[in-house]
Amino acid sequence: MNKPENLIENGIRLDGRKPDELRPIKIEVGVLNRADGSCYFEFGGNKVIAAVYGPREVHPRHMQKSTSAVVRYRYNMASFSVEERKRPGPDRRSIEISKVSREALEPVIFQEYFPRSAIDIFVEVLQADAGTRTAGINAASIALADAGIPMKSLVSSCAVGKINDTLVLDLNKDEDNYGQADMPVAITKDGNITLLQMDGHLSRDEFREALEMALKGCEAIYEMQKAALMEKYPAQLEGDVIE
Ligand code: CDP
Repeated sequence: MNKPENLIENGIRLDGRKPDELRPIKIEVGVLNRADGSCYFEFGGNKVIAAVYGPREVHPRHMQKSTSAVVRYRYNMASFSVEERKRPGPDRRSIEISKVSREALEPVIFQEYFPRSAIDIFVEVLQADAGTRTAGINAASIALADAGIPMKSLVSSCAVGKINDTLVLDLNKDEDNYGQADMPVAITKDGNITLLQMDGHLSRDEFREALEMALKGCEAIYEMQKAALMEKYPAQLEGDVIE
């Protein structure tokens, strides 16, 4: 799409959403038989799969830690996931996203329960439409729970940004391409921020308002993550296991 004159008109975005509206979300838990935990997550035009393996032996051995598990996160885009074919294999962008996504999840994982072992998280992007790192974190958090990895909380993630001087939640590809700012955020249930990045510019006041908007978006996503897990594990989760 060429740059549209306006990405938002009379408070309605080009895809019909209001400024503070998330794209539709679809979640399936436990979609892969060979993984210990897995999740398929659709976030608007993004389609991602997360697979979790572990706790398991660490290879290569020198990577193991004597007092805690090592958490490894690999974000990968399928070559067919974007408009112009993505060259297979890791690149600067995927290495960065893998690192920040791992750091978004590590604070909630009880790593000290599993010394000398590894918890491996793989996120495969099948279709991309801006916000793939947030979709990946949401999926990975559910896959970790599905794998039975002890966690303090789920992690929920979405982006907020600015288009035509208006703050909007959860940018799509055109808004990301032609907008003024993009700020992905991830939070735990207690509101601890575990990821915060920003492309573009926001004033101090805009930043505060944007963060508020993102936190509300994450809270809504959290409810959907929890509902998806409750559906798969109705008996086990009755009560307050997931807080
Ligand atoms: O996906 P996310 O917003 O987390 O990361 P980004 O680096 O801001 O990328 C934004 C979007 O650009 C992606 O979601 C893809 O839709 C697109 N993209 C692409 O078309 N080709 C690439 N090689 C990388 C990203």
